[in-house]
Amino acid sequence: MSINIEKIRADFPILNQKVHGKDYVYLDNGATTQKPIQVIDAVSDFYRKTNSNIHRGVHFLSDQSTKAYEAVRKKVQNFINAEHEHEIIFTKGTTDSVNLVAFSFGEKFVDAGDEIIISAMEHHSNLVPWQMLCERKKAKLRILPFNKNGELELDKLPGLLNEKTTLLAVTHVSNSLGTINPIKDIIETAHKFNVPVLIDGAQSIQHEQINVQDLDCDFYVFSGHKIYAETGIGVLYGKEKYLKEMPPYQGGGDMVDHVTLEKTTYLDTPFRFEAGTANYVGAVSLGVAIDYINSVGFENIAKHEAELLKYATESLKKIEGLTIYGKAKNKTATISFLLDNIHHYDTGMILDKLGIAVRTGSHCTQPVMDFLDITGTVRASFAFYNTFDDVDRLVEGIKKVQDMFA
Ligand code: ALA
Repeated sequence: MSINIEKIRADFPILNQKVHGKDYVYLDNGATTQKPIQVIDAVSDFYRKTNSNIHRGVHFLSDQSTKAYEAVRKKVQNFINAEHEHEIIFTKGTTDSVNLVAFSFGEKFVDAGDEIIISAMEHHSNLVPWQMLCERKKAKLRILPFNKNGELELDKLPGLLNEKTTLLAVTHVSNSLGTINPIKDIIETAHKFNVPVLIDGAQSIQHEQINVQDLDCDFYVFSGHKIYAETGIGVLYGKEKYLKEMPPYQGGGDMVDHVTLEKTTYLDTPFRFEAGTANYVGAVSLGVAIDYINSVGFENIAKHEAELLKYATESLKKIEGLTIYGKAKNKTATISFLLDNIHHYDTGMILDKLGIAVRTGSHCTQPVMDFLDITGTVRASFAFYNTFDDVDRLVEGIKKVQDMFA
């Protein structure tokens, strides 16, 4: 089976409109993905028929709401093949998940003089929380560099790992360069030093089937909105052995066992990490998005996106005066580029007027831009609903930008 692109595109109403009078070409999927009608309808239906706060009511709809929310926890467990349902914690998104681990794991396991390793290609969400932790705990942040092609210098990893290392946090896929990092090898190396590994899956969960048990990662984080679900819902997967030891991140309702004015005891994972009213409608949307992805199939998604990447890379390479940043052997369908003597914002704004949405700037990876000695790039990031025609429109648009600046 291969992708039925017309059928898929019919499911995404936002793609079938005109922007600035032009057929819309959406190539900013790294920032957020569009939502299929199945997700949009499920959210609307939920508010029409089911909405009630979860874990709190004895009434019928509260029970239905709770069941819907917990069913998605099970669905996520199956989706990433976690061993236990209670290893799935709902958060606001990737950033919230990383902050949860940085605070909570940090409280329990990180002391002054300890070391945390991240890579130099992290987006700010998997960088700033670790800097904050290191500042708070007087720990040291150590950096695994990457080379000019945008590939991690893995030979340097063993030299960074030692008995003081408490955690390694690394992105699966670089959001600004598209590099797919060999996380299985990285995890294996870190585990030889008994160092747990957090994988930032913000840019990988939508492109390939994740199996956390096979990867043997200790934490894996992702956002719903990058996987065709609503914003404001995300996931933290953590191995039971760590979650059981980690203190709560935030206090409030729904995470407590018993509260007196003097002392509070907490529920076990996952509830101890889900203080307050959870985004249960977001979770429902995530469940439907997962069903949608499964109905398309990761094999088909990967094949189509690989073809788009190949076609787009070949097409862009033919354009004189265009430089691609991020030339890793193993990439997702994300291409960062610059046009000679044309600022990335100008390129992005003109492309926008042509109905083509790309992201411009540093992509929340300022250290990556510093390393490349540029202020930003234009980034075209593809999803399975994009077409070869979208690539042609991008190429045409780039040529118009160049003509305007000639
Ligand atoms: N991290 C998101 C991106 O890469 C926002 O665009």
